[in-house]
Amino acid sequence: MKTKTIADLELNKKIVVMRVDLNVPVKNGVITGEKRIKAVLPTIRAVLDKGAGIILLSHLGRPEEGVYEEKFSLRPVAVCLAELLGHEVKFHGYDPDLNVKAQPGEIILLENVRFLKGEKKNSPELAKKYASLGDVFIMDAFGTAHRAQATTEGVIQAASEAAAGPLMIAEMDAATRILDAPQRPLYAIVGGSKVSTKLTVLENLIEKVDGLIVGGGIANTFLLAEGVNVGNSLTEPELVPEAKKLLDLAKKKGVVMPMPKDAVTAKSLEEPKPAKTVAISEVGADDCIFDIGPETVEYYSELLANAKTIVWNGPVGAFETEPFDAGTKALAERIAGSDAYSVICGGDTVTAVENMGFADKMSYLSTGGGAFLEVLEGKTLPAVAALAAKA
Ligand code: 3PG
Repeated sequence: MKTKTIADLELNKKIVVMRVDLNVPVKNGVITGEKRIKAVLPTIRAVLDKGAGIILLSHLGRPEEGVYEEKFSLRPVAVCLAELLGHEVKFHGYDPDLNVKAQPGEIILLENVRFLKGEKKNSPELAKKYASLGDVFIMDAFGTAHRAQATTEGVIQAASEAAAGPLMIAEMDAATRILDAPQRPLYAIVGGSKVSTKLTVLENLIEKVDGLIVGGGIANTFLLAEGVNVGNSLTEPELVPEAKKLLDLAKKKGVVMPMPKDAVTAKSLEEPKPAKTVAISEVGADDCIFDIGPETVEYYSELLANAKTIVWNGPVGAFETEPFDAGTKALAERIAGSDAYSVICGGDTVTAVENMGFADKMSYLSTGGGAFLEVLEGKTLPAVAALAAKA
């Protein structure tokens, strides 16, 4: 990634305006997942250590612009951030005029940037205002880098100096290790419920990988394309022609694209018991596939055992409902135990891997959901393009 980094910046007594992604789950004012807050602590510390003051910008959720609503307030995040940092974090509440000044050594978190009109439309005036709050702008909000908005893209253009933070760099490095210079064989696992949401990812990955494992509802549509009866399972019949095209392309390119050999089925997720493990050709007419079966786990694990690089986006089963978490858990365990460089991305997959206790054994867990997906789609993220142009 061609951009300035913190190491290139002279920050003593300067004020840094920094975009971070503190879009964390908050329930009744209580933060239920601190991962994204923890991910930017090293960046904040590094900037403070250089003698600067910091104005932090972030969004939370998707409020209506121009309307303050307490449930989207970043106030609880400021409290949590201060505790984790062990440093005071001042909170600057809703203020469309952005009347705020920081001193060196100070950290100020502004209220949710999405309350202000012009954020989503990337208003140049708003972007200029943000840039004028400090001497330098640092972009470390990888999770929002796919949005061309005033605090993610416009402000980079408006700032006199801009750099990428270490989290941005780590995320883009992980992407490069997968897409541009992977150690081969490179395997991708793409799960999730619908082919339609992952079509571009699948198309792009098939050009790059040596093996592509599809999972979850996506696999059902591929099975349908291969003429397998998937009973009452979630499918997108209108995408069968696309699935066939992808299977053909994989064959032409020599990409291994295995299909499940067995499945765990039930009548519905509301009625998960009794769950049955059946051969893939034996799925009952009114049954739904909710997970891969043990034979498929072994089959996929053998393939993955050869991989030197693995990227995984999307669980392979309905992992939030027992016993349909078993396939995702077994694959996570195998990947955690392998020597391959492994990147886990997407909110559900990261949560699954964390909850199953394998997070520490993976090479990289992305903080970006949609952002990493866009990278896998082969797109250049607007914030990355703006940083490169600035550099
Ligand atoms: C995310 O949670 O994926 C990021 O914070 C981006 O949020 P958005 O999809 O609301 O832009």
